[in-house]
Amino acid sequence: MAAKQPKAGAGGGGLAYLPRVQHRIRFLPSERTIEVAPGTTLLDAAREAGLPVAQTCTGEGVCARCGMRILQGGEGLDAESPAETRAKARNRVDENLRLSCLILTDRDLTVTAPYW
Ligand code: FES
Repeated sequence: MAAKQPKAGAGGGGLAYLPRVQHRIRFLPSERTIEVAPGTTLLDAAREAGLPVAQTCTGEGVCARCGMRILQGGEGLDAESPAETRAKARNRVDENLRLSCLILTDRDLTVTAPYW
């Protein structure tokens, strides 16, 4: 018996059999884990997980309050931009933190924040 082949357009959409890409974001020390769509900011992921994030700007990398430490999965993330570096220096933020509002998820990550 031949294997059943998916039919194009089955289920009302032409992409019904493509795997749904989600990235797993794990927050420590709470151990909360959520899955988010690619391109979700770490800031939004944390909020979706019910975690508070300090913020006084509207998430454009100005206030530097939303810093998070990438514990796992950070290899290969886009390097910090000069604007992010300046915002952190201006606000005396630990250089090992990344501004979560500027990190677009494109992989699984484990992160923490100094105030969790
Ligand atoms: S929310 Fe202000 S820099 Fe990220």
